[in-house]
Amino acid sequence: AGTLGDAAAAKGRYFGTAVAANHLGEAPYASTLDAQFDSVTPENEMKWDAVEGSRDSFTFTAADQIVSHAQSKGMKVRGHTLVWHSQLPGWVGGLGATDLRAAMNNHITQVMTHYKGKIHSWDVVNEAFQDGNSGARRSSPFQDKLGDGFIEEAFRTARTVDPTAKLCYNDYNTDGQNAKSNAVYAMVKDFKQRGVPIDCVGFQSHFNSNSPVPSDYRANLQRFADLGLDVQITELDIEGSGAAQAANYTSVVNACLAVTRCTGLTVWGVTDKYSWRSSGTPLLFDGDYNKKPAYDAVLAALGGT
Ligand code: G3I
Repeated sequence: AGTLGDAAAAKGRYFGTAVAANHLGEAPYASTLDAQFDSVTPENEMKWDAVEGSRDSFTFTAADQIVSHAQSKGMKVRGHTLVWHSQLPGWVGGLGATDLRAAMNNHITQVMTHYKGKIHSWDVVNEAFQDGNSGARRSSPFQDKLGDGFIEEAFRTARTVDPTAKLCYNDYNTDGQNAKSNAVYAMVKDFKQRGVPIDCVGFQSHFNSNSPVPSDYRANLQRFADLGLDVQITELDIEGSGAAQAANYTSVVNACLAVTRCTGLTVWGVTDKYSWRSSGTPLLFDGDYNKKPAYDAVLAALGGT
């Protein structure tokens, strides 16, 4: 197969990208997206501030644009993200515990209902753990007012709304074995033991010289998979260029392919031109939509030609 999506499909995986609605009108952006990828994640359009800027008033225009585009091209959609401390409108932080719990469950219910049957995996909770060696939860309105139980509650609510969507916990700096990933592992293990509905763990995989591809990446993915759920590479990008960047991408793809329950990969953007790392070149296509060595490496690792 000659495209990322087709090559990944031949290996039983999807190959996706983050997409921004306001670039879909740019011809080479859309043609590269449509030719190469078989899954999309809205980069910002499904976040709380984008869909519920004021309480109980929902706006799905930009996210709908991405979902319709994806559906018209036969691509799957990852939902990103329901409960996150960032890109959270100010009114949420102003609520007391009782109202906050109601607002969280209402947000999950309204957004998942709107997209019911159209999303293959939802990032139900995103980035709830601190960096560093504490293994502690990150401070947020949800954590501070509802306590540790907010994550479990979010997953239970999500399952009742769309029982067919895979429900994921998603985080960064959890790609190798460390205090943060150990804390997530302990939470997921507890959820599986107690029957809290969780189907997948997303590993964002934002790599750079300070945070390189970990040598135990595959082993870390495998230990989560061994808990009895899927793992997904959800926001992959790797700083650098040329052969070194290509080799890093190869190692990431090989790690996913080596783990049976690694069901797919998503890169965090189509082109370096629009990467969130404004000064970097972390993606598979350059700013002029040319394939980079990293692209050839990924395609080859997936068995494509
Ligand atoms: O929408 C406004 C626009 O109205 C305004 O004119 C413009 C001026 O700066 O800002 C626009 O909002 C920006 C938004 O992206 C949409 O473009 C925000 O400033 C900017 O902060 C925001 O950045 C996003 C970032 O999440 C915010 O946390 C990035 O695009 C997005 O790639 C990034 O994605 C996150 C994942 O969701 C979670 N994991 C980490 C990843 C990278 O940071």
